[in-house]
Amino acid sequence: MSENPAKMESPVIDLNSLLGQAHKAAEHSYSPYSHFRVGAALLLTNGQVVTGTNVENVSYGLTICAERTALVSAVAQFGPAIRIQAAAVANLNNAASPPCGACRQVLAEFIQPDAPVIFPTASGPQTLPFRELFPLAFEMKVK
Ligand code: THU
Repeated sequence: MSENPAKMESPVIDLNSLLGQAHKAAEHSYSPYSHFRVGAALLLTNGQVVTGTNVENVSYGLTICAERTALVSAVAQFGPAIRIQAAAVANLNNAASPPCGACRQVLAEFIQPDAPVIFPTASGPQTLPFRELFPLAFEMKVK
């Protein structure tokens, strides 16, 4: 008997484990200027998890966030067809750190709209589907 697609469950994603991997990645943070140590973990649709951390620069604006280093690493490792089915952000400063606006735009290129994103808030970890975190991504539709 074939499965009714309407009844098919979405894959079980262990967000706590992903959060743990993001936290671990933050240990590699290069953040001598802000001392804010951030880690990100991306679960790809191929089942692989790719992590990243923030890498700062003395020319402050050249700093790269954890989410973007993870994303760039994922493409470098697995190629341009990657898709993200879940993402986690953590920091070692016991502070809130939702993904910044720039990272949301960059994630939008590769993440599934319904992918859960877990990140620290002042009241503990919060999870939102990416589409709620970033409802109006820039798109380029040239006429
Ligand atoms: N940072 C991230 O890694 N991710 C974000 O989404 C926001 C900020 C980093 C950049 C910088 O190294 C430090 O946090 C302070 O802004």
